[in-house]
Parts: sequence; C-alpha cells; structure tokens
Amino acid sequence: MNRSASDRPVLTVRPRSQDTVSATTSLQQLTDQLEHLEAEAAAAIAATSSANELEELRVSLLGKKGRLSAVLGAMGRLPGEERPLVGQRANVLKDQVQTLLADRLSAVKGAALADRLARETLDVTAPASYVPPGHRHPLLSTVEEIVDIFAGLGYRVEEGPEIESDHYNFTALNIPENHPARDMQDTFYLSDHQLLRTHTSPVQIRHLESNPPPVRIVAPGRVFRRDAVDATHSPVFHQVEVLAIDEGLDFSHLRGTVTAFLQQFFGDLPVRFRASYFPFTEPSAEVDVQWRGRWLEVMGCGMVDPAVLEGLGLDPERWSGFAAGLGVERFCMVRHGIDDIRRLYTSDLRFLEQF
Ligand code: DAH
Repeated sequence: MNRSASDRPVLTVRPRSQDTVSATTSLQQLTDQLEHLEAEAAAAIAATSSANELEELRVSLLGKKGRLSAVLGAMGRLPGEERPLVGQRANVLKDQVQTLLADRLSAVKGAALADRLARETLDVTAPASYVPPGHRHPLLSTVEEIVDIFAGLGYRVEEGPEIESDHYNFTALNIPENHPARDMQDTFYLSDHQLLRTHTSPVQIRHLESNPPPVRIVAPGRVFRRDAVDATHSPVFHQVEVLAIDEGLDFSHLRGTVTAFLQQFFGDLPVRFRASYFPFTEPSAEVDVQWRGRWLEVMGCGMVDPAVLEGLGLDPERWSGFAAGLGVERFCMVRHGIDDIRRLYTSDLRFLEQF
C-alpha cells in the first residue's frame, strides 16, 4: 500500500480498466473521481441512442457493481468526518445521473417513435406504383359486343355445359344417330354418351325444357370439333346461339332481327340470306355480309323445326320461332382484320396489345 504525502489514510478502489492504475485513494481523489464520473456519465448518457444502451449504462453507473458503488465502497475507509462529504456528493451525483437517464430515455423513445412514424407514414396522395392494367382479349370483347346488341333487342343471356350429352348435342336437335350431319360435327367423345359439345345449339333445348315460351335468349360459349388446326380452323372455338320462340313468329322476324344485328355489328353493309340446310331448322339459311367487295358467310339460321318443338312437348301450331348460330372467331377476325385464327390463342402480347 502506498501512502499519500499528506499521510492521510489511503483507500483502495476497484480500478476501472481504462483508468490509470491506482491502488490507493484519498478524500480528494474520491471527490475527483465523483467529478470525473459526473462528467463522463453526462457525456455517455448523451451519446446513447436506445433504451437498451441506457439500461446498460444505468447498471454500469448506478448498479450494485457499478462505478458509483465502487466509490461508495472506498468511502468506508475514509476517516468518519470525511465520509458525509463524499456521501452527499455521491447522492447528488446519483440524483443527477438518474435525472439524466430518465430525460435521455424519454428523448430516445420520442426519437424512436418519430423515426418509426416517419418510416411508416403512408402518403395517400403518392401516385400508385404502376401495374399494367391489361384489357379484354379480343375474343371476349367480341362476345360482349354481340351479346350487348342482343340484350338491346330484349334477349337474355343463357349458358350451357361444355361437356354435353349426345341427346342434347344431337338427338334433341333432330340429328339422330347415323344422321349424315353428325359427320360434319365430329367431336371428342367421353364415356356414358357424353361428349364435348360441337355447337351452342343444345342450350336451345336445355332452356326450353325449363322455360316455357315466349323465350328470347342468346347463349355464348366454347365449342369443340375434331378439326385439324389451320389458319381458319381450331378444335376449340366460340359460338353465340340465338333463339326466339313465341306465338306468330315467322321468317320476317328472323330476317329483321339478324339484319339489325349484323348492321349494328358490321355497319351498314349489304346482307343476304341463302337457302341452306340444318337438321333443327326449316327453312334454313346461311347469311352473308358484303365485306370489302366480297360476300362473307357469317352465320347460320332458320325457323325452328316443328320436330324440335314437338320433342319438347310444345305445340308447333301455337308456337314458332327462329334460331341462329355464329362463330365468334370469324366475327372477331373480320372486325379486326386478323388473318390467322391461331393468333387468337397463342397469347402473344405483341399481338394482343393491339386490340
Ligand atoms: N349449330 C350450327 C353449327 O354449329 C349453327 C347454327 C345454324 C345454329 C343454324 C342455329 C341455326 O341456331 O339455326 O354449325
């Protein structure tokens, strides 16, 4: 143990590693240490930036094994009359440090909150990040346009299943087994007389089965044929079916309706009806529009065959009507000048984004 020059009793304090190693101390030294501690504590507290750091600092300054405790421990070895001086000073220091810690804690918390608010603030007026909006596929917009025109004429939209029975797809439409018309509509057969429907005409039967006339419906949908793919054929394509049944409907109603529809879709183009054959209509016709100087076949139609009505239990003496069917792809291709049906299915955005 060293002795000080004044020959006062000297005390040992636990040295801090960064202090100059000194094994003994006096009142002066303890007071100096407290002073030093005060300045250091104030600087350290001011430098903290989180509640955790502050807590660590509190423990190292005021905790049981902290800096202040070390000084107070050393105090016990001062002469009795000097102790209160150090004790008072230490108490003041402790209060100061506690106040500084509390103040800093609320400042740090306040800053953290402000920072979080700033980071999480939503600017509801900021422009949204860009999401390409996309748009209707040209086939879909064609269906919608067709359906809209018929809706304007008082027609209701109906749909039917794509997996259909032989009965609805053929027999009920006056196409019995072994009828040559089946040849032109070869399809994909499933078990139990189920098949992929070759046209939307079965919706006529399904609708009339559960809805007594008068009816006016338009039935868009996907249909299937066993066709090889080329520029104008696809094994999967789309049709829209039209059906009107009422008392007193005749061919002039058919002609008027189809002409009004075509002129609304294509503009005021010449329209002609050619006699044709479909098993479920009698008489039947094919309809052409004059498009860019040539006649273009766009749909089939006819007066609903009495045999079809009878099959549904409807009296053909009372009820009559007309039906029509069209291929959506054809309408879409003519409308947009598309030369190859395959372009409609390949999902090439460079193509689709033009419409
Ligand atoms: N279902 C016929 C087809 O796919 C098109 C058709 C023709 C429908 C005449 C009709 C119609 O309703 O009356 O070839």
